[in-house]
Amino acid sequence: MNLPSKDNDHHPERGVAASDLAPALPSKVATPGPARVISFDGYVDPLRFLGQLWQQYGDTVCYQTRLGPCFLFAHPKDVQTILRDENFRRASLIKMVLGEGLLVSEGPRWKSQRRVMQGDFLPRSVAPLVPVMVREAARTAVAWRMAAAAGHAVDVSIDMTQLTMRVIVKALFSDDLSDTEAGELCAAVALAITEQGKLSWLVFGIPAHFTPESAANITASKAVLDEVAYEMIRRRRSAASCDRPPDLLTLLIEADTESGPMSELQIRDEIVSLLIAGHETTALSLSWAWKAIAEHPDIELTLHQELDQVLGGRAAELADAAKLPWTRAIFHETMRMYPAVWYMARVASEEATVGGHTVPRGANVLISPWITHRHKEFWTDPERFDPGRFANSPAQATHRDAYLPFAGGRHICLGMHFALLEATLLLAQLAQEFRVRPINAREIRPEGGVTLRLSPGLAATIELRHAALVSGTPVAHPAVS
Ligand code: HEM
Repeated sequence: MNLPSKDNDHHPERGVAASDLAPALPSKVATPGPARVISFDGYVDPLRFLGQLWQQYGDTVCYQTRLGPCFLFAHPKDVQTILRDENFRRASLIKMVLGEGLLVSEGPRWKSQRRVMQGDFLPRSVAPLVPVMVREAARTAVAWRMAAAAGHAVDVSIDMTQLTMRVIVKALFSDDLSDTEAGELCAAVALAITEQGKLSWLVFGIPAHFTPESAANITASKAVLDEVAYEMIRRRRSAASCDRPPDLLTLLIEADTESGPMSELQIRDEIVSLLIAGHETTALSLSWAWKAIAEHPDIELTLHQELDQVLGGRAAELADAAKLPWTRAIFHETMRMYPAVWYMARVASEEATVGGHTVPRGANVLISPWITHRHKEFWTDPERFDPGRFANSPAQATHRDAYLPFAGGRHICLGMHFALLEATLLLAQLAQEFRVRPINAREIRPEGGVTLRLSPGLAATIELRHAALVSGTPVAHPAVS
């Protein structure tokens, strides 16, 4: 995936004319950037838009949109300043579905909720969830065996999305989802993310096309999520304390925060936030990983050697995670090249100085792992997919802050340890048995919405790596049947 060359003009797509260009705004900010207000007629690729601004103007860019001044910071040291400075607050555009959950809240509410939940996401707390991860991977394996036997193509992006949704629902809320339920829930979440994402496009100079249809879609998604969340709460409250599983839902219901027990709405907001934050990001990273693995036979071979040596056909266990450095490195490198959260937006609540540049109060500030992960000062040959960068240490970047798939500072991803463990084991479990062979690889483009999706999805045939099948049961892998 190449960023545009420096000689392109700063309009993200040729043929998409900037329109309605207002006269240059007077600006006190002595930061490079286009002088005129950026406003496009129709859809513009935000990945290219930011990429071209960076190529043309450098590590710090200021541009004007109808929202006011927007800053893009690409240098790791500036990125870290923004992530660590409490004056840069998350923009509050996407609360319609999320409410005041951890993913969007700020201030005392955020602090209190983070304190309640973070203990459940420490490495020692997520370790007991390994059997859930492995069991759900085995369910996907059953479907993939059938697809392989029938020679049917599967949509790997959908399969990964449903797999990670089943994992999160079981691991955090002890609920089992049928394939149909998982499909409905994933569709509701995907729609909500897409529609809410449109509101954020203003920072890319794209008018927010928030139509009555968008509003109807949000209402429909919210209804599905409300029903799921409130039903979970109702059932758990009606269970006797001694019958409640020791999971995150029980923690939320029984939490005694500084302002007392959490309300029904607060618990609902946290459930929905975790459903949204906790599955699509991992699923997208896994899908990009499958595509990259298929495109690099040497990397795939090393992966298979590692899996055969460490797992040898049995189901993965917690202790295996530490013995699978190549599997984990593939996941890290995937998140470098295809960071699921490809940009983060903040608003300056006070005037601030970042890297010598004045950021006025109220300005929008963007940081983008998509860009910083491609910074040539910190990454050698950044467009090359090379898990070797991560094989020996978590990040061999020359600047440790140049790698930020999980962000940093106070909002660093709550589910980071969960996601790393889950992704390593799901990939290991499935890759030891199957090869994924994309059939639409040339068509696939990264689509920069709220998350970095594969457009139009990853269609693939599934091949069995090992012995013949007997009635859908793998001969060489009894442990995962
Ligand atoms: C590969 C998978 C994942 C990636 C790449 C990822 C990435 C991120 C990033 C970049 C942020 C910071 C957003 C910002 O600062 O605006 C974040 C926040 C968050 N993530 Fe993740 N995430 C992943 C998986 C998960 C999982 C599995 C969970 C839950 C089980 C989760 C829960 C959260 C929550 C609750 C926050 C908000 C934290 C706060 O503001 O205190 N994430 N994630």
